[in-house]
Amino acid sequence: GKSGYDHYMLKEIHEQPTALRKCLRERVSELEHEITVEELATLECSGSVQFVACGTSYHAALYGARLLRENGISAQCFLASEYDAQRIPITDETLVVGVTQSGETADTMGALRMANQAGATTLVLTNVVGSSAARECDHVMYIRAGPEIGVAATKTFVSQQAALALLSSELSGSEAPALIKHLRGLPDKLQHVLDESTAQAVAEEFVDADAYFFIGRGYNASVALEGALKMKEITYKHAEGFAAGELKHGPLALVTDQTPVFALVTGDTAAKTIGSIKEVEARGAPVIAVTDRPAEVGQYASHVLEVPDAGPYLTPILANVQLQLVSYWVAAQLGRSIDKPRNLAKSVTVD
Ligand code: F6R
Repeated sequence: GKSGYDHYMLKEIHEQPTALRKCLRERVSELEHEITVEELATLECSGSVQFVACGTSYHAALYGARLLRENGISAQCFLASEYDAQRIPITDETLVVGVTQSGETADTMGALRMANQAGATTLVLTNVVGSSAARECDHVMYIRAGPEIGVAATKTFVSQQAALALLSSELSGSEAPALIKHLRGLPDKLQHVLDESTAQAVAEEFVDADAYFFIGRGYNASVALEGALKMKEITYKHAEGFAAGELKHGPLALVTDQTPVFALVTGDTAAKTIGSIKEVEARGAPVIAVTDRPAEVGQYASHVLEVPDAGPYLTPILANVQLQLVSYWVAAQLGRSIDKPRNLAKSVTVD
């Protein structure tokens, strides 16, 4: 059941601290300053990494690819439906990583099969034990989020991001004590976001807008894409997410005093994103800043959704939770079919 929540989506948003704890259990040890993912014990990666995924899982993969590059591993990210192993250079040193909650998505399965035929090693990050991807790939890492009923992916996205942080550490052999500390603290910080969020009030204020924009840089660029996708899926409203630097290359033409802009302002990209905020503010747009530094950012924004600082790699995971809540409350105000949005299915088994 929904345990007293109106929708599975809200229940699953609130299950995220537990989902994270399950994902990290026995994999992150503070005492030994170690990250150990047992399933990956026999995985070797001497070449480059290619991620393949769709939808929300693609946004997690974008985040993961960036983390790997940060750790010195060459990594690219592909939409599974656009992946073409015949034309993308693959050697037997290439590791192709599928990110798929269900483990059944046809496009992702197709890409993984292509990669396998081309001689790559395949790994899947999935939530479903015994799924097609889990059976067919050379290696499997479970994200351990637990069953997700709502069609819109929420807790599985957070678990994918955490699993990708573990993977980046495993593949690079870099066990940054700061990352370990921040990973262990993440479930409590996420709980804090859920307890203190003012997203419902923000949603109520902007429920009548025709369009919403989401901007961020670096790790927050993938969060911006995810924020917009969630908004589209469950509210049926127009939403766009993009890397903040792209604003002035086109989308700025759409910005008026009627377009709320959600700006993700965390980490070392904050100063540049504040620059982007000024660009939209000058057009009269209301700016909702999602940030771990309200004192610095507050003066540029009409609203602030605060998140605790969890370090440069993980704070964006918390920022995303604020956006999940905004979308949820906009959709709830509009009386949408939140757990089963029109035209969408939980598992897309046709390509
Ligand atoms: C969005 C959503 C979809 C899925 C996509 C991939 O909320 O749920 O975009 O992320 O269909 O599904 P999986 O991860 O099962 O491969």
